[in-house]
Amino acid sequence: MNKTNARLQKIADFALAHLNESYQKRSTEAKANLDRYLAGVEYRWQHTLRVAQFGKVIAENESADVELVVAACLLHDIAWFDTTAENSREHGPIGAEQAKPFLESLGYTSQQIENICNCIAAHVMDGNPGTPEAKIVSDADDVDRYGPYRILQWCISDIGDYEKLAAKLNERIKRLEHYREENPLFTPTGQQLFAEQLNLQLRFFNEFVGEKKLSVMPQI
Ligand SMILES: [Fe+2]
Repeated sequence: MNKTNARLQKIADFALAHLNESYQKRSTEAKANLDRYLAGVEYRWQHTLRVAQFGKVIAENESADVELVVAACLLHDIAWFDTTAENSREHGPIGAEQAKPFLESLGYTSQQIENICNCIAAHVMDGNPGTPEAKIVSDADDVDRYGPYRILQWCISDIGDYEKLAAKLNERIKRLEHYREENPLFTPTGQQLFAEQLNLQLRFFNEFVGEKKLSVMPQI
């Protein structure tokens, strides 16, 4: 393993350990709720790795600093379980604070650390996150937030009630069509990946809702 990958592996180990530790501190009820909606540590970590993969591809295409982007992607959600639904946006700035001393121990320069921490803090904020790296981390996160796994998360809470789920998905389709029109991501590569994810979700949700028309007796 080369030096860069070894440093990134240390960041990944730190991020996963932090997620596990903070998840364990949540109440039994909170943990059961997270697991019920496929949103526990397993999901958060798989999401984190995919964001790092998307971040790498976008950073390469957009000529940004690939190591800094991947490092920030691996750390972007470390404070997820330190916040709740009420203050979930705080996981950005809180995570940046938690990552800082660890990044110092890895030998990054203060400028690099500032850049990574800004990516982590800014990915939860509305508006332009500023640096090219922060735009990429935000884009990579959004690309994965509209991927196949999220289709399951959208469906699971109402899977036993077709009417309710179809009504919910009809609303979701409108929202996704709006996103497709706007494509609010920051980088051309991010926009392209986002459009592909939206097309997949829209195709699935439309087909799912459309099944209703076939759920009747055929007339001959
Ligand atoms: Fe995320």
